[in-house]
Amino acid sequence: MSVTALIGAQWGDEGKGHIADKLAAESAIVARYNGGDNAGHSITIGQQAVRTRLIPAGAFHPEVTNILAPGMVVNLKSLGREVDELNHLGASLNPDRLKLDGAANLLLPGHIALDGATETVRGSHAIGTTKRGIGPAYTDKMARVAVRAALIGDPDKFEAAVREHVAHSNRLLALYAQPALDAEAIVKEHAPLAARFAPFVADTTALVHAALERGDHVLAEGAQGTLLDIDHGTYPYVTSSSTITGGVLTSLGVGPKHVKRVIGVAKAFCSRVGAGPFPTELLDEMGARLRGTGANPWDEYGSTTGHPRRTGWLDLVALKYSARVNGLTEIVLTELDSLTGIHPLKVCIAYSYRDEPLTNFPTDIATLSRCEPIYSELPGWELDVSHVARIEDLPLAARVYILQIETFTGVRVSCVSVGPKSEIEVSRCEI
Ligand code: IMO
Ligand code: MG
Repeated sequence: MSVTALIGAQWGDEGKGHIADKLAAESAIVARYNGGDNAGHSITIGQQAVRTRLIPAGAFHPEVTNILAPGMVVNLKSLGREVDELNHLGASLNPDRLKLDGAANLLLPGHIALDGATETVRGSHAIGTTKRGIGPAYTDKMARVAVRAALIGDPDKFEAAVREHVAHSNRLLALYAQPALDAEAIVKEHAPLAARFAPFVADTTALVHAALERGDHVLAEGAQGTLLDIDHGTYPYVTSSSTITGGVLTSLGVGPKHVKRVIGVAKAFCSRVGAGPFPTELLDEMGARLRGTGANPWDEYGSTTGHPRRTGWLDLVALKYSARVNGLTEIVLTELDSLTGIHPLKVCIAYSYRDEPLTNFPTDIATLSRCEPIYSELPGWELDVSHVARIEDLPLAARVYILQIETFTGVRVSCVSVGPKSEIEVSRCEI
């Protein structure tokens, strides 16, 4: 059959987890294609909200094979913790159900130390990374000094590679006047993790192609969002992986002909974690309202840090850009319910840059940070939409909001989520 790509269409935290969990039910394979434990995807198991970081959304679907694809950077310590946690909740992630590609790169303690050191040196220009070591891990991959997962099955070679990597990291840390890492301690900590996960290592590209040849469905689950893409995001305020459709192809090792659906997950408003330009940001009471109080797990607070996320109106200029660079075939709109009771609603339809209108999203941050949003006002609605199951039953104003997104981006909104619980979450919409 084919590959469906599920991509964050904004700055991350669009609610990809819930949608991936839904789509996992129809998939033989769910493959995470980028990033590492910087992600925080929420899924609901029974009444419980579960947060995944490395493990794909197929974890709780017994028939699904979950893949950590070559494009990922994997911290084995985090992986061990997460597998234990999810198995405790009934996921039964064993080597038959979870596959770690041998070409995926390991994220080691040196990366975390360097992430912290580089952020400190940046001072007021810090990116606001998750401090999980993501940037340095991808740096080492590109510099061809990384340790690949394939090595964990060979204890001697793995130990030698880890020692070499610690030496490499220590040389870099010295440049930042940081203390050297203890190779002995790192080897000791990683040897049992390597032994534990060696049976999980596989050639996942072969598995994906075998599934496609059998006529099975593959879901490529993205982390972060389009505007955080290393090439097409708001560099340098980005993550270090390919978050967009192109990243699916290189990570899974599939050609474009296999990708039939490209689903962009977009929130009904915008949020951003960390630094960097955000034209529609609201620093007022409306921003606080969109953020929520933090009482609910889906409120806009960092999943690890608890820090409030930056929030703002829906940016259609950015979403249209996202539709283009990903080749979106559909948009899944999340958190429509968060807009209930807001009058009027605003959506950004152009920027004003040096008093000239700009309709193409500029990724150059010098330009973007000088863009003022130009808004279109739309009517709001009062009805609590969180129990609406059919698109026809949404208030007219909500349907107009959806229509505006479709008209502006030229992409169909195929699903709308109106609440955090799976039962009422997605209604197929035909508008
Ligand atoms: P999910 O998958 C939102 C942001 C960080 C920072 C920048 C770089 O839950 O949508 P990094 O640690 O990746 O080097 O940080 O990217 N960031 C995210 N923002 N959601 C995420 O993941 C993110 N992962 C990283 O806040 O601005
Ligand atoms: Mg997140």
